[in-house]
Amino acid sequence: MTATALDPRHLAPVPGPPPGAPRMLTGDRPTGRLHLGHYAGSLANRIRLHRRYESFFIIADLHMLTTKNSPGEIAEAGQHATDMVLDSLAAGLDPAHSVFYLQSAVPEVAELSLLLSSLVTVPRLQRIPSLKEMGEHAGQREMPLALLGYPVLQAADILAVHAAVVPVGKDNAAHVEVAREMARRFNRRYGEVFTVPDLVPADVPVLPGTDGRAKMSKSLGNAIYLSDPPDVVAAKVRRMYTDPARTTAGVPGTVEGNPVFVYHGAFNDRPAEVAELKERYRAGKVGDAEVKEKLTAALNRFLDPIRERRAAFEADEGLVEELIVTGTARTRREVKRTLADVRATMGLTAALAGFRRAARSRSRTRALAG
Ligand code: TRP
Repeated sequence: MTATALDPRHLAPVPGPPPGAPRMLTGDRPTGRLHLGHYAGSLANRIRLHRRYESFFIIADLHMLTTKNSPGEIAEAGQHATDMVLDSLAAGLDPAHSVFYLQSAVPEVAELSLLLSSLVTVPRLQRIPSLKEMGEHAGQREMPLALLGYPVLQAADILAVHAAVVPVGKDNAAHVEVAREMARRFNRRYGEVFTVPDLVPADVPVLPGTDGRAKMSKSLGNAIYLSDPPDVVAAKVRRMYTDPARTTAGVPGTVEGNPVFVYHGAFNDRPAEVAELKERYRAGKVGDAEVKEKLTAALNRFLDPIRERRAAFEADEGLVEELIVTGTARTRREVKRTLADVRATMGLTAALAGFRRAARSRSRTRALAG
């Protein structure tokens, strides 16, 4: 992870993917605003990739239901979805080259998920560690059926749009593997319909939280959001966890794994400044306050262009909503086509067609007789 690779200011306006480019699908459950951890872990990668692939971004509200399904949580999903799309555009996704869609508004995906579910076994799904963790995290003592089927639904998302690449983090790698297995099994058993998707590991080091815990996360309350104003960033950095052994500025400190320096490494666009701070920190020649002030300045330099773009997109009232509406309609057309292929290839359309023919000829006979 280097500052340059992560820096939105280095994104020159480049054209979108060439015509006929392979497809990419990725996305998230609508759980809230995006933070620096999302940026380092997935957004930066998406922004890079969406220049090369025809890109679909799913707002996975059906997946959200596997762990969050109270009326209150469902009611909030809409606002979360808008925030996430806005954050993604602000960070650098080009609205002209990004198809955002709402999963629950493409009901054909659920049907595809059902049709695919005979291609995988329960023990295969039970061996996926991320599902158990998600269940436990959500306070479930027993595995809900929907959660066990999480990877099957995800496979339906991926296969429905013929995605060739699926950039996801470690937690989701096993789900993409399930999608690959199901695609191969389907193609062998019924006929070639599906593209076997490639997993693109988005294996950037996970950004620690401001409290020093391993992961920045909304639920842990240790996140700096892309939409945080400068004074909020300053306050969060001031409270940040550093080397606890360092009681005064004169004590030599540890840089490795120290979140303040991890953030400097990821987001500060002045590498010479970072190197010099590290040196003085190790030697016990700089106070935490100075290291943090410089981090605040660096983060605000990084976030300023994102804030500016966010304000511009926000001022364009209804834009985000329109993108979701048109993206959903576009995706639904694609998915309907795939589902029709799937049903025909499996032989499910033949029966009804036969019934229809027979029913028509019977009514013709009756009309002649009458
Ligand atoms: N499982 C993803 C998450 O962790 C969301 C998701 C649903 C997804 N369907 C997908 C990601 C298809 C990539 C491709 O939130």
